[in-house]
Amino acid sequence: MKKIAFLTSGGDSPGMNAAIRAIVKTCLHYNITPFGIYDGYQGMIEGRGKEMTYADVDNIIQYGGTILGTARSADFKTAEGRKRAYEFLNQNQVDGLIVVGGDGTFTGATILSQENNIPIIGLPGTIDNDIYGTEYTIGFDTALNTVIDAVDKIRDTASSHHRIFFVEVMGRDAGFIALHTALASGADSVLIPETITDIPKLVEEIKSHNKGRRSTIIIVAEGDDEGNALDILTKVKPHLDGYDLRHSVLGHIQRGGSPSALDRKIATRMGSYAVELLIQNKTGLTVGVRGEQLTTCQISEAIKEHGAPDLAYLKLIELLRTK
Ligand code: F6P
Repeated sequence: MKKIAFLTSGGDSPGMNAAIRAIVKTCLHYNITPFGIYDGYQGMIEGRGKEMTYADVDNIIQYGGTILGTARSADFKTAEGRKRAYEFLNQNQVDGLIVVGGDGTFTGATILSQENNIPIIGLPGTIDNDIYGTEYTIGFDTALNTVIDAVDKIRDTASSHHRIFFVEVMGRDAGFIALHTALASGADSVLIPETITDIPKLVEEIKSHNKGRRSTIIIVAEGDDEGNALDILTKVKPHLDGYDLRHSVLGHIQRGGSPSALDRKIATRMGSYAVELLIQNKTGLTVGVRGEQLTTCQISEAIKEHGAPDLAYLKLIELLRTK
């Protein structure tokens, strides 16, 4: 291993910079040249990257986003795009590749590796936490803290106005953010894509727990089977005459901001471990974390399976709901 390339791809997540910093510094420690590629696979296709130094990663651990930039590259899904991408790696004599992102990022790396026999390691970087083989993805914890801060604020206005709020959080296909933030913010109900939403039951729940209370908070994952927060509000509204209903979409504020201690720690440990794995000639793996332990999983398995949230959280939220 003389030169290791790395990129961030898909949606950015807080802690990606901590991972980049750890990759660069670990490479330099082992006299390996770290080669950063800009804007994910799109930058690889367009031949944009550079050898990185300590100075490039000084003072970045505390910043959200990714200093390398990211993209969702449609060109990389074509054989022609991947051919150009590999040519760039080849021209630069890259011996191994580390990708930080979600399922789509891992799928892209796997195809590239199969077509060109290049060693790859994947790091789970997404706020959604929906990656198989890890308890936490880089960025999830920061996103949770951003959401609970927002929900606390929404609760102030909801209580002042005696309102029922539907708060929409990210999670196109996964309810991790919704479930964890509902528990941590003391929300009254939560709607996630992994369970079937029953609108008449929700109406009854709202009527029952709103009785005599100043506010009701319902967290809605954007990908819920009955729709987003506005869709849900529209569906329950005809059955909740006399109630003051509002919705609030938290959107991309969930993806930004300074990473939490947990995200900085796991990103740093995972980034450094990815370099060590390549040095040991390991390939086709994703790095994960279980408790305090770093783990690995076959990248093929991580793509095939989908991380599933613990539905015991849902039961606990129901149990704690005021009757
Ligand atoms: O994949 C992370 C994610 O934050 C999803 O939860 C969300 O649906 C999506 O990205 C939004 O992506 P974009 O910024 O491309 O609209």
